[in-house]
Amino acid sequence: MRLVAAIVAASCTVGVASGQDAIPQSLTGAKGDPARGRAMVANRQVGLCLLCHSGPFPEERFQGNLAPDLRGAGKRWSEGQLRLRIVDSARINPASIMPAYHRTEGLVRVAPAWRGKTILSGEQIEDVVAFLMTLKD
Ligand code: HEC
Repeated sequence: MRLVAAIVAASCTVGVASGQDAIPQSLTGAKGDPARGRAMVANRQVGLCLLCHSGPFPEERFQGNLAPDLRGAGKRWSEGQLRLRIVDSARINPASIMPAYHRTEGLVRVAPAWRGKTILSGEQIEDVVAFLMTLKD
């Protein structure tokens, strides 16, 4: 029973109905900071994005080739579509290897210290989304 309550509470933090293609609202109610977002995307300890993706990061020698290049992401997708893809890419592609950066429900074998926590906070998600929106070509 307590588990069910936890799951319901967790889903409410983000509140995406299944089948939706976007999260139109900011998770924090505020706009993110693109400079902080860029730092996170390029950082191998925080975002890990470049494990799989490549992008306009001339200072990063090692970039991934398991996922689409992030160049042009802000042209291909709306802000809400990007937000959903970072929060929980499995909503778009259930077989996705991309981590759900802001989902707490439905995860298995989570170490106790991480239970109920997300990889990135709502504020960090907004920063990453703000940065991706600057990638227009
Ligand atoms: C373990 C690999 C992996 C990591 C880490 C990862 N992604 Fe992804 N990402 C993917 C794959 C694979 C796709 C292609 C769609 C799918 O399979 O879900 C994708 C899709 C995307 C898309 C849509 C791409 C497009 O234009 O079609 C964006 C934007 C994105 N990721 C951003 C990020 C950001 C930002 C991070 C870091 C916070 C990140 N990803 C971390 C694997 C990854």
